[in-house]
Amino acid sequence: EKGGYDWFMQKEIAEQPQAVADTLLGRVNADGKLVLDEMRLSEEELRAITKIIVVACGTAYHAGLIAKYAIEHWTRIPVEVELAGEFRYRDPILTRDTLVIAISQSGETMDTLMAIRHAREQHSRVLAICNTNGSTIPRESDAVVYTHGGPEIGVASTKAFLTQLTACYLVGLYLAQVRGVKFNDEVAEVLTQLSDSPAAIAETLNRMDPVRKLARSMVGARTVLFLGRHVGYPMALEGALKLKELAYIHAEGFAAGELKHGPIALIEQDLPVVVVVPSPKRPLLHDKIVSNIQEVRARGAKTIVIAEDGDEAVAPYADFLFHVPELPILLQPLVATIPLQVFAAELADALGYDVDQPRNLAKSVTVE
Ligand code: BG6
Repeated sequence: EKGGYDWFMQKEIAEQPQAVADTLLGRVNADGKLVLDEMRLSEEELRAITKIIVVACGTAYHAGLIAKYAIEHWTRIPVEVELAGEFRYRDPILTRDTLVIAISQSGETMDTLMAIRHAREQHSRVLAICNTNGSTIPRESDAVVYTHGGPEIGVASTKAFLTQLTACYLVGLYLAQVRGVKFNDEVAEVLTQLSDSPAAIAETLNRMDPVRKLARSMVGARTVLFLGRHVGYPMALEGALKLKELAYIHAEGFAAGELKHGPIALIEQDLPVVVVVPSPKRPLLHDKIVSNIQEVRARGAKTIVIAEDGDEAVAPYADFLFHVPELPILLQPLVATIPLQVFAAELADALGYDVDQPRNLAKSVTVE
């Protein structure tokens, strides 16, 4: 059943190119238009949307944080992202013209379910992004986009995350298409880039041996920090979450711009700092991150850098440098997350922990 892999998570990490490809499958009709599964909201209703709120928990929440960058960019609709467990307790502003997007692999997470029930009571529309056919969250939603990731056994989410991202991109492009905000050419271009992404994901997986080796050398680490900017920020949060969940190592993700406002005080000799670097084609972003890497390294940090192919500007400041294939920045999480997953899983295994069943965690949390 593990198909030759040591753990389900290893298998699920390896299945990511296929999972993303399956999630993209059959989304474009004969006219070249994007179509979604169970879209029980009319184009008119979707055109009337004035605000989007994404609600989710854990890794799915990180997918939502990344979705915000893409959906706002493509549709110009303001997007908020909220932890589902916080949502209904703060009297959120919800109207008929608010679209709530619930992201949940299982479709049974109670915090997320309660959030969408609250949204529907306030007459907002709810769209679910879910991996489990016929589960409660999609049944209680106005529209569903299924991620076709197949069953995920490992408690810590990997392929579900990549397929959630894929579905979020599809929803963003669909809204852009329906609303005609951006030229349809841009939608078509991103769809092409998305359809190329499984090959880039597969290529990334082929490069993971040095990441495994590094992880196995780090069994003594007590704290690991993760830094990123733009979509690299949610990726940093996800990298830290994976390490906490699997290896029980204290880890925190920070927005790189915040470094000087606090976290830099934590830097000491040999502290591992993982940095996700945006493409050098975005020089404003890229150069700021390079200075952040220099700043932490000057204070003794051991820098573990994930950068795009061809980016050598970071090399002088990286103790370890891993390259991932080039994708447009909004899609970069599809590849740059993979070394973070592999790093956490390998380190956990090296420490002798059960990678598939981390202590105290459940795959689907059906209590609030
Ligand atoms: C958790 C799982 O508690 O629930 C996480 O351990 C997951 O991996 C989170 O991200 C949300 O689950 P779901 O099913 O709503 O995506």
